[in-house]
Amino acid sequence: MPAITRNTLIDVFARCLVFIAALVPLVFLVKDVATGDIGPDPGQAITERLGLTAFQFLLLTLAITPLKKVTGWNGWLRYRRMLGLFVFFYASLHILAFLQLLLGWGDLWTTFTQRPYIIAGATAFLLMLPLAVTSTKAMMRRVGRGWKPLHRLIYPAAILVWVHFLWQARSDITEMVVYGLILLVLLGLRAYWFGLPTLIPLRRG
Ligand code: HEM
Repeated sequence: MPAITRNTLIDVFARCLVFIAALVPLVFLVKDVATGDIGPDPGQAITERLGLTAFQFLLLTLAITPLKKVTGWNGWLRYRRMLGLFVFFYASLHILAFLQLLLGWGDLWTTFTQRPYIIAGATAFLLMLPLAVTSTKAMMRRVGRGWKPLHRLIYPAAILVWVHFLWQARSDITEMVVYGLILLVLLGLRAYWFGLPTLIPLRRG
């Protein structure tokens, strides 16, 4: 049995902290629902807050490589998989809330294919599915050299989420522009440091 070192304990503690911090938006949402502090249209507000949280976690996940490069600390990478899974978790809750609280579960095909902004969101979610499924160490080993190219699907997925975000806006698009600029900087930095081809999914190298 491997010895438990001080570093292992610090690592486990840090992972627990990140896990708890990632649940904070959900705890606040549940609290606001319980206290009725969620506005006149709870279904809409819950769906929007979960969607925005998913997108924020997506940007945070994409920020790990720039953080590593700028700070020179490789430890950031330890939290990337967990953050990525939280993107999937919040996006799944967002879609469940949309179905349960807004549109209902009837005729799902029409629900997901009628409005262009929903098509963008649904496509982004479909692109994220294989990433969540192959996120474990065992799957990483099984997929082998194809793992990295596959996980580059996160870049078109992020762009599609932003399109979904922009498209559903009613009037003021300031927030969408700010998030779009953050995404542009994160993708731009990657292209600058590692080359534009590293943004292309499913491509070896
Ligand atoms: C089947 C897939 C999806 C459906 C049906 C869906 C549905 C919706 C709906 C109904 C809204 C609110 C639109 C309105 O205000 O009228 C919304 C907003 C949003 N969604 Fe999605 N969505 C999907 C996928 C995603 C994914 C994968 C993400 C992120 C990872 C996401 C992030 C967002 C964001 C950021 C907003 C804007 C929230 C705000 O206004 O603060 N969505 N989505």
